[in-house]
Amino acid sequence: MIIKHLQEHFFRELTKTEHLEKIKEGTLPYNRLMSYYKCAIMEVETKFKVLNEQFSLHYDENPIEAIKSRLKSPDSIMKKLRKKELPFTTDAIEENITDIAGIRVVCSFEEDIYKMADCLLQQDDVTLIERKDYIKHPKESGYRSLHLIVEVPIFLENEKRPMKVEVQLRTIAMDFWASLEHKLRYKKNIDAELLEKLSVDLVDCANKSAELDKKMESIKKKIERGKVIGDDF
Ligand code: GTP
Ligand code: MG
Repeated sequence: MIIKHLQEHFFRELTKTEHLEKIKEGTLPYNRLMSYYKCAIMEVETKFKVLNEQFSLHYDENPIEAIKSRLKSPDSIMKKLRKKELPFTTDAIEENITDIAGIRVVCSFEEDIYKMADCLLQQDDVTLIERKDYIKHPKESGYRSLHLIVEVPIFLENEKRPMKVEVQLRTIAMDFWASLEHKLRYKKNIDAELLEKLSVDLVDCANKSAELDKKMESIKKKIERGKVIGDDF
């Protein structure tokens, strides 16, 4: 009787351990992949920090105001896989979702966005996968930003692994607008009429904000030209 009980107990313990092992086995590849994406974020973030440092040293200007990074949450990954009708596997994630690692680079001026993008893309370990210019071609919502999907290698213990990173480059004004519009986009139970009105208002704000960006950039250029003339004298 005691032996039987012990056997049963042992059996239960075993299945519990097996159960835990199964969970571990299942989450290990996912956690490993997420860790690779974190490394890729670090690589690309460093590239931008180095560029900013160099511009600050050579030209006495800081083209980058802020860098914000994020790893896509498991919840959002699941939602995207479901939407695309893909299996919940690490292979499916890596092959089909390009914004697991996301970096947002906020610049003061539009020209800095293109300068930073060009500097990044001319580096010999960066491969451009996709480029979407929502500054030259804004979205219907009014959204403006330059989007790049790039592939960069991460160097592991015994392996070099290419990883995809989504880079969004924006001005401060574009970033300000996008966070406000994001609030409206994800607001639940909003009255349809109000939603329509606010969307129209936001398009108007986007146009005004684009105008402001242009005006400020032209002032900056005039100041720079003035500086050269001033220096000459
Ligand atoms: P996703 O499934 O959202 O990745 O669509 P997509 O692959 O067509 O990507 P797209 O380049 O259009 O946008 C990717 C990201 O840009 C989004 O996750 C947002 O962070 C941002 N974005 C794009 N459009 C808008 C917009 O209209 N408003 C705001 N606030 N953000 C946007
Ligand atoms: Mg995307």
